[in-house]
Amino acid sequence: ERPTVIVFGSVNVDLVCRVPAIARPGETVLSARYEQLNGGKGANQAVAARRSSALPVAFAGAVGDDDLGRGARRSLDEEGIDTADLATAGERTGCAFIAIDEAGENAITVASGANLEADASGIDPSRFHEAAVLVLQMEIPRGENLAAAKRMRAAGGRVVVNLAPVPTNLRQDELAEILAASTVLVVNETELASAAMISQVVGEASAAMADRLARRFAITVIATLGAGGVLIADGGGKTTHVAALPVDVVDTTGAGDTFVGVFASGLAEGLSIADAARRAAVGASLACRKVGAQTAMPSVAEIDAALAGA
Ligand code: RIB
Ligand code: NA
Repeated sequence: ERPTVIVFGSVNVDLVCRVPAIARPGETVLSARYEQLNGGKGANQAVAARRSSALPVAFAGAVGDDDLGRGARRSLDEEGIDTADLATAGERTGCAFIAIDEAGENAITVASGANLEADASGIDPSRFHEAAVLVLQMEIPRGENLAAAKRMRAAGGRVVVNLAPVPTNLRQDELAEILAASTVLVVNETELASAAMISQVVGEASAAMADRLARRFAITVIATLGAGGVLIADGGGKTTHVAALPVDVVDTTGAGDTFVGVFASGLAEGLSIADAARRAAVGASLACRKVGAQTAMPSVAEIDAALAGA
């Protein structure tokens, strides 16, 4: 039994503005106020995993030796997440500048700072043996992700990699290496298209691209399609569709992270990939109802209630 989740990844403080329309290059838009919220894809995914199950969740990464970093660490601790492997680094805590338009769509600029100092060798070796699932995203150096993935696979656990954001200049061999060390790839529509292009996998429709990527790397590929639900390609030629829950969208920020975190806790609890994805799709839909990433993430009770009503 290895009933735990370890998330290795980024921590950011999100500075969030609601705008009538997202600024184009050279343009200035005004917003009456901003909110300072806890974010970062890694931290968000850890929070989603923790809230969606009773399993222990550990988070590894790096924050700066500053007030933002201390606040981020404290909030993860308060969520009940084990932060023993969250390092304090020399650079400033990561910061994300987020604009949300009236349709709930966002544009995000991340100043990575301390996230670039996240170090896989700082993760306690026992973690890899205790955990059922390691979760990765792409806001920390790719070499560190790869090192962590390899250690997890060597210890016999599963690796869920969320290719978000797709790093600029990600090479075909680098992507192949991380996918070869993974069990499940989670991507949105844009990331799926990028992964297919980088891998020189052809296919017009999302389902075809997901299926070909899954077969190529002998992994499961999950594509999250927003209101279009979720596609699961199992690597053996089978593609399954899971519907999204209809909700009034206020802010999609963190919906993808919620999917990944809820999916990971479901896998660690022993759910099948399809059942974990069904639960995660509901969680992600619920997370769109409020401004912010972690602020909007549902509890296990909310997910269960929505699943029962679906
Ligand atoms: O996925 C949403 C997250 O992306 C935000 O919390 C922000 O910090 C950026 O990393
Ligand atoms: Na949200």
